[in-house]
Amino acid sequence: MSRLLFSFPGNEVLTRLVASRSKIPVGKVQFGNFPDGETKLRIDSDPSGSEVYLICSLDRPDPKLIPLIFFCQTARSMGAKKIHLIAPYLCYMRQDKVFHPGEGISARHSASLISRYVDSLITVDPHLHRIEDLSEIFEIPSKTLHSAPLLADYVRERIDSPVLVGPDGESSQWVAEVARLCGCPYTVLEKNRKGDREVEISAPTLQALVGRTPVLIDDIVSTGRTLIETVNRLRQTAATPPICLCVHGIFAEDSYGNLLKAGVNSVVTSNTIEHYSNGIDVSRLIAENLF
Ligand code: R5P
Repeated sequence: MSRLLFSFPGNEVLTRLVASRSKIPVGKVQFGNFPDGETKLRIDSDPSGSEVYLICSLDRPDPKLIPLIFFCQTARSMGAKKIHLIAPYLCYMRQDKVFHPGEGISARHSASLISRYVDSLITVDPHLHRIEDLSEIFEIPSKTLHSAPLLADYVRERIDSPVLVGPDGESSQWVAEVARLCGCPYTVLEKNRKGDREVEISAPTLQALVGRTPVLIDDIVSTGRTLIETVNRLRQTAATPPICLCVHGIFAEDSYGNLLKAGVNSVVTSNTIEHYSNGIDVSRLIAENLF
């Protein structure tokens, strides 16, 4: 069956890289809005009889979901045989329980919505914590790809005498795996989140960091508070400014600038979300694991 790859706006760089690695041609689609704000789109490449792949990272998801659904419905109405969603960043995964009475489990709700419109899902390092596997919430086949080997290559090739630091227990799964792959020491700190923008980081001892380059590793940077508070804590002990390595750079509001001002050496993210800080390329991982 023929295959066609489409880019959702904002995903063009990664789409080109995946296209060149997978040899799938890139189709043309125009997304826009009517004067009243309603979504309009036009698929200019004929998807009839094809498997369609759409790369659409789901950071800041709400304005993307209607165009995404309309794209899928339009492609199907034009004869697409299958629609595969590649969402390098998968939204709402941190809302995986009822934190306060009256709230819903948004991870389940968004998964159930997406499952209605696509035939499969590929994503990179979704925030799996209380939900252990995507099959618990998605009703379609899904693949979870892991960027740890790419992060480990980055550390091994570019950082002298590293010590990896995870800001909280949830990050330990990534930090431990990257440390194992590049054979370097690591430590995991403790986080107490008091609100969306308020975080406390504690560390009983940071002796392991002395004389090494601290590399903070986390899956997501959103408000940046987790990393900023970790940097503040490390600066009390480690002389060397830390390097921050994150899979998904959401960078809500002015968090990127705030993180740079906090005294980091550098901030490096993967290209699951397009940003100046992208330094780790996930295109091969995706191209080699397509449905
Ligand atoms: C949560 O446990 C995640 O792994 C990240 O630490 C968190 O989402 C980062 O959020 P923020 O940048 O808003 O502190």
